[in-house]
Amino acid sequence: MQDSPAGPASCLFPPGPCVILHRHVRPSLRPVQGQSRRSPIGAPLANAGVDIILARVDGQIHAVDNRCPHAGGFIQDGPLLEGKYLTCPLHQYHFDPKTGAPINAACRKARVYKCRVEGSDVEIAI
Ligand code: FES
Repeated sequence: MQDSPAGPASCLFPPGPCVILHRHVRPSLRPVQGQSRRSPIGAPLANAGVDIILARVDGQIHAVDNRCPHAGGFIQDGPLLEGKYLTCPLHQYHFDPKTGAPINAACRKARVYKCRVEGSDVEIAI
């Protein structure tokens, strides 16, 4: 793929302001149905990247920021609650990875990113 001055030669996402990060995630390392897996891009702890959780619900992979919107805890990877909800272990808030909406508490939404699987890459719009 070759970039042009107008942007990437082929972008999978609708036009708009975003940066597409290509995260190579081998199929064997992608979350299976009802599971999530941490997938940091760059060095998020050094403020040079994004810490993302990939979660598979209803056959689709969703990308969610690993930082909990409640008080900055780290959302847990592994099995999803009821096969579909992420959990922040700090105060046990649950979030829908499709929308980021909190399920069991009054809280802001978790940040979600547009995400697509393309060949061997998971493409995430930041
Ligand atoms: S910091 Fe995540 S639930 Fe409180």
